[in-house]
Amino acid sequence: MDILILGVNGFIGSHLTAEILEKTDWTVHGMDLSSDRIGKWEGHKRFRFLEGDIDINHEWIAYHVRKCDVCLPLVAIATPASYVSHPLEVFELDFEHNLRVVRQCAKYKTRVIFPSTSEVYGMCPDDEFDEESSPLVYGPVTKSRWIYACAKQLLDRVILAMGRDRNLQYTLFRPFNWIGPNLDSIHSAKEGSSRVVTQFLGHLLREEPITLVDGGSQRRCFTHIDDGIDALMRILKNDKGCADSGIFNIGNPKNDHSIKELAQTMVRLLGECKGYEKIAKNARIVEQSADKYYGGQYQDVVRRVPSIKRAGEKLGWTPKIGFDEAVRRTIASYTETSTQPDTSEGWSVAR
Ligand code: UGA
Repeated sequence: MDILILGVNGFIGSHLTAEILEKTDWTVHGMDLSSDRIGKWEGHKRFRFLEGDIDINHEWIAYHVRKCDVCLPLVAIATPASYVSHPLEVFELDFEHNLRVVRQCAKYKTRVIFPSTSEVYGMCPDDEFDEESSPLVYGPVTKSRWIYACAKQLLDRVILAMGRDRNLQYTLFRPFNWIGPNLDSIHSAKEGSSRVVTQFLGHLLREEPITLVDGGSQRRCFTHIDDGIDALMRILKNDKGCADSGIFNIGNPKNDHSIKELAQTMVRLLGECKGYEKIAKNARIVEQSADKYYGGQYQDVVRRVPSIKRAGEKLGWTPKIGFDEAVRRTIASYTETSTQPDTSEGWSVAR
């Protein structure tokens, strides 16, 4: 099988490539702006890579969409601070450029596996979010934080409609706060420049205080990347068409923790790492309002728990890695290596 991964050097793309190259005989054709996470496969006979921009290399993309069996368009800006500071760039990259790729998939009859997001549920009041029945609830347009969720939601709808009217073969997956090695660069000091786990870790390692936005009572279900990749491999294998026309929440409802608990857990687990005991002991946790931290166009999601019934029934998938273990492995991957990927220009450009 030939697999096209746009954003192959990103968090999900690089982990998925590792799994594919190690465990299957499939070939990965990848494109990204940089190659620090995937450089180790240079020269691998089943890995082809073009360093390039989804905005420029239209012909290369069209050729590969046509040639490959399946396409994963993983390129996106995925850091909430960017939704507020650069809403148009989020729209252009996350929506417009991905729409072009999805259209090509429909045109060339190539299967698409599209990264939707837990963010599409917005401020949904349901206890557990269901892919096919939960309402998607956003704030006013003055709160540009929702532009990412809106862009992803509209693409979800376009893909479903293309499935119905143009025979597009698709699967949507919705990651719920996937964490692990290579999540974001921890070297960008700017507040909000990466997702919360790497943001906290960077501050801790630089001996800066970590900030709880609005007291940190908001909750997320943190999911280890290995569990996410397990789900993606099942989707890729698509045994008896089990993933076709499916929308799947991929998250760990048992790892439902507040951001304050995350901060405390990270400090505790960092303290268990050899050489970091003192840093952990001196760690400071401070609080700041969301208005101050992100600006007035931000609005937070207070809680976000996935129903994973569909992924269980159709894909046979359940997450296995608990919260402490997921956080421990993430911290270890950053503290145990001396060279870290640094692709950040203040936001991440590939999921
Ligand atoms: C993220 C991003 O939108 C996407 O990466 C993704 O689609 C989605 O979630 C997902 O992975 O499920 P969010 O969980 O709000 O959204 O992003 P984080 O930046 O990781 O923030 C999590 C929480 O931590 C927020 O409530 C935020 O206010 C808080 N936070 C963040 C702090 O308290 N302090 C910080 O320094 C940073």
